[in-house]
Amino acid sequence: MANCGDSGRAEPLRLNVNGRDVAVAASRQASLLHLLRNDLGLNGPKYGCGLGQCGACTVHVDGTAARACVIPAHGMAGRRITTLEGLAGQASAAGSLVRACAAPGAGPARDWHPVQAAFEEAQAAQCGYCLNGMVMQAAALLAREPQPSEARIRAELSGNLCRCGTHVEILRAVTLAAQRMAEAPAP
Ligand code: FES
Ligand code: FES
Repeated sequence: MANCGDSGRAEPLRLNVNGRDVAVAASRQASLLHLLRNDLGLNGPKYGCGLGQCGACTVHVDGTAARACVIPAHGMAGRRITTLEGLAGQASAAGSLVRACAAPGAGPARDWHPVQAAFEEAQAAQCGYCLNGMVMQAAALLAREPQPSEARIRAELSGNLCRCGTHVEILRAVTLAAQRMAEAPAP
């Protein structure tokens, strides 16, 4: 469980998470993943390897995909952190919001980032444990390269592990997200 625990004396820390400034206390050893999940209740990022090798914990730091399990929380002061929970709101602000209407009786419509919506449309999940990382990695890619080639998508996601072997569906979902974003009306 390298780098993910929170032992030692807690020290105050201010962070910007999903567009909100938050004040927390964490030890100098605490990882960003530990703080997000255990102190802020943001369970989108998952704990997998704890070693920066599987991608399950991926978040965005200043818009770039990063492994939260190996980032010291105290190193994040002044940085802009986005988790899976904040992705939809970010897309809304950019004008590329997707209204995914739930089936009748299944609850209210959900506002999703196009990548999240594409993963559902492509049914790109089995157990779902890797999906946070896949979605966050793909969203960061499409934000800087709106029309990546299949080879580029494969390369970008090569460090995100899926134990269920859903890679073909995940690749299809990211390609679909790029298409949907290209078709979306300009904000
Ligand atoms: S849990 Fe962070 S990379 Fe595996
Ligand atoms: S869907 Fe199970 S690990 Fe990817």
